Amino acid sequence: MDKLNILLLGSGGRESALAWKIAQSPRLKKLYIAPGNGGTDQYGENVAISPLDFEAIHKFVDEKSIDMIVVGNEDPLVAGIYDQFANKPGLLVVGPSKAGAALEGSKDFAKQFMVENNIPTARYQSFTAETVEEGKKFLATLKAPYVLKADGLAAGKGVLIIDNLDEACRSLEEMLGGMFGKSSATVVIEEFLSGIECSVFVLTDGNGGYRILPVAKDYKRIGEGDTGPNTGGMGAVSPVIFANDEFMKKVEERIIKPTIKGLSDRGIIYRGFIFLGLINVEGEPMVIEYNVRMGDPETEVVMLRIASDLVDLMEAAAKGNLGDKKLEINPKTAVTVMAVSKGYPGSYEKGKAISGIDQVTESTVFHAGTKKDGQLISTSGGRVLAVSSLGNSIDDALQKSYRSLEKIEFEGINYRRDIGRDLEKLEK
Ligand code: AMP
Ligand code: GLY
Repeated sequence: MDKLNILLLGSGGRESALAWKIAQSPRLKKLYIAPGNGGTDQYGENVAISPLDFEAIHKFVDEKSIDMIVVGNEDPLVAGIYDQFANKPGLLVVGPSKAGAALEGSKDFAKQFMVENNIPTARYQSFTAETVEEGKKFLATLKAPYVLKADGLAAGKGVLIIDNLDEACRSLEEMLGGMFGKSSATVVIEEFLSGIECSVFVLTDGNGGYRILPVAKDYKRIGEGDTGPNTGGMGAVSPVIFANDEFMKKVEERIIKPTIKGLSDRGIIYRGFIFLGLINVEGEPMVIEYNVRMGDPETEVVMLRIASDLVDLMEAAAKGNLGDKKLEINPKTAVTVMAVSKGYPGSYEKGKAISGIDQVTESTVFHAGTKKDGQLISTSGGRVLAVSSLGNSIDDALQKSYRSLEKIEFEGINYRRDIGRDLEKLEK
């Protein structure tokens, strides 16, 4: 059995969960995480390299005979890491080419792609500074609320949902005037869709082969009952009750297959994870967005439920040959509850000492914004720890995470106590 040296890029809860899973593989020789965080060194060696420093990555790959690069976050993918490295002899890269990464890097491209391939999504038009007046006219043809999206990457902040037409017109001007820098030089305006969202992940090999990973739902708002500002994600649950066989059949036929075919028709190489942000509109799945990586905090629950060897699956995808590789899924329910810093998603203090993680027995604690100095672990970001558990029901898994959270302390710790409760209501 070939064993692989793997370099994982990123530093969040998602990368902790990927590292945790990769570390369990009998196929692993050695795992490096660049740059990693205060917890990823449990699974491999942290290396102080930025995921965007391709020159340093080149050197490191040669020095350590890396066999496979796994890209956690979107920035290196959108910057073209696949194209830079995939032709290096003996090196595999899990991820899309730069052209494929545009599904996340440009919302205008993603919308054109969906229309071209008849993939269900909200009606839209795109505008630039030259066409701002037409943009206002288009807004007037839509019903409130109005959805305005910066075309380019904006660290998850580029979507505005506005109730009032005058305000939407003003926001359009501000976005085109540089509210999100170059990212909002083009703005996508689209129809508002109403329904419950879920995240579907697909691992594809670029040759028509794919596997659908466990479906998850994330909780974006800071406050209980989905109130207050958006965050990077306060928790997640998998499975998702409404993503049943009937719904998933529609997702596969109307969205996954046409996406994979559409990429291939355009000659776009895509050997990695596709993240479909979906909304369930009265039983019909529609695409809200594509991402070209796994979700965070969805990965923290998805990894808990994947029973098969992830290294094996990723290697096959990167080689363009998923063939008959099995993806086995644990039927249990997984939840993750994100412990965040006081003040997040606004300004917050860092450097608070964290205690109690070693007391946790019922959950897996994935580090996100943490750092380690000697034995001391402290906070270094807004989202600090993803406390993740498997159980026989949402409630069973949640009770474990909440009991574990009782044991963990840092100054100003905050978390939502209602993760998954909306899905529980649907169950009844
Ligand atoms: P995005 O960055 O495209 O995922 O958008 C961020 C969030 O805005 C999504 O997760 C949705 O909650 C919301 N959103 C985006 N587009 C729409 C839409 N067309 N209708 C309703 N909500 C939307
Ligand atoms: N949880 C949503 C994302 O990763 O973009």
